[in-house]
Amino acid sequence: MKTQVCIIGAGPAGLLLGHLLRAEGVDCIVLERRSPEYVLGRIRAGVLEKVTVSLMERLGLDGRLQAEGLPHDGFNLADGERLIRIDIAELTGGKQVVVYGQTELTRDLMDASEERGLEVVYGVDDVTLHDVEGDAPYVTYVKDGAQQRVDCRFIAGCDGFHGPSRKAVPASVGQEYEREYPFGWLGILADVPPCNHELIYANHQRGFALASMRSHTRSRYYIDVPLTEKLEDWPDDRIWDELAIRLGPEAAANITRGPSIEKSIAPLRSFVFAPMRHGSLLLCGDSAHIVPPTGAKGLNLAASDVHYAAEALIGFFKQNDNDAVALYSDKALSRVWKSERFSWSLTKLMHRFPEDGPFERAMQVAELDYIASSRAAQTSIAENYVGLPV
Ligand code: FAD
Ligand code: DHB
Repeated sequence: MKTQVCIIGAGPAGLLLGHLLRAEGVDCIVLERRSPEYVLGRIRAGVLEKVTVSLMERLGLDGRLQAEGLPHDGFNLADGERLIRIDIAELTGGKQVVVYGQTELTRDLMDASEERGLEVVYGVDDVTLHDVEGDAPYVTYVKDGAQQRVDCRFIAGCDGFHGPSRKAVPASVGQEYEREYPFGWLGILADVPPCNHELIYANHQRGFALASMRSHTRSRYYIDVPLTEKLEDWPDDRIWDELAIRLGPEAAANITRGPSIEKSIAPLRSFVFAPMRHGSLLLCGDSAHIVPPTGAKGLNLAASDVHYAAEALIGFFKQNDNDAVALYSDKALSRVWKSERFSWSLTKLMHRFPEDGPFERAMQVAELDYIASSRAAQTSIAENYVGLPV
């Protein structure tokens, strides 16, 4: 078949981009390796910045997000027994983040695909990119045992960290920047009310903890664990016990325990691949970069990439504008690096690294003291957390 843009991956980046292009009459197809149920079963991000909410609004797909999403005016950093509240709304002129799960956002985009004429092919194998350097690239894949070919003008690589798109850029052209962390986040999802009406990120002697939520009746919590830990070694009760210690006595008193409906361990990584465009291939979201989850930037960065990519591709097809495509990588990377910096610095501030000694811990205490006492420091955190402008 022939189309204008072949999108690889039907995660949030691929589906958002597909809908934005279709809304402007640009032809596209989305190819996804997994089934819709598998994609929806992945419990990931939970906090949306304005950029992500605005894209859903622009698409007119924000009905459930507006009805069920929980706007948050602030969040907390816990340091031992002290809670430092970052009043995002007050510090940023009324801006907010919205708690709404990645699963729900993906479901809203999936549900609207058919009615909006967005073709998504699930369960495809062996997706391979060809001739990305020229202006007539194509993608081959296998569906139900038959080889298929999509000819297009552009390929959008929205296929996550492990997908084939980034690998289609020759090593001589691309540069990788990477930092791995010596721990992962063990997450638990449970149908119990949250312990606090706002998120709490805690740096405790025993390690990091995060109290988050999906709704008034569904909680999401995380603790950091060494990468060598196995999920089997963490029955629910052990996780609840650890959360109660790390989140501090006030939060602990309000924790409602319940059976987990999902548990997983996600490794932490900082990663950037540059450039984010090579010839006719544009990379968006996790295919080009990973942030450690502290600060909830991963999904929101995917959304800001898609904002720039949609602008560039719509400009190309509707206004014969080549410049926006040429500028895509620089524009996207400028925001990516700022989110990488914020996620890395909040990770360093809130986790106990095994290699750290008393000096590094004293630096954390001093920084938290400074944040607690300085409106300027709180404003800097608030404006990054709520999301830098696109
Ligand atoms: P993805 O959501 O990864 O989507 C890529 C899609 O491409 C997938 O559906 C995949 O199946 C598909 N694909 C891959 N290979 C192929 C192929 N060969 N052919 C066709 N399709 C393919 N962020 C936060 O902000 N907070 C969190 O708590 C958080 N937790 C996370 C936990 C985990 C385990 C992971 C992996 C990520 C987490 N993130 C979190 C990050 C956030 O979920 C991602 O940044 C976000 O999903 C990026 O969206 P994306 O569409 O770019 O990539
Ligand atoms: C969630 C995940 C994050 O990484 C974060 O910083 C805040 C919330 C969550 O899954 O709810």
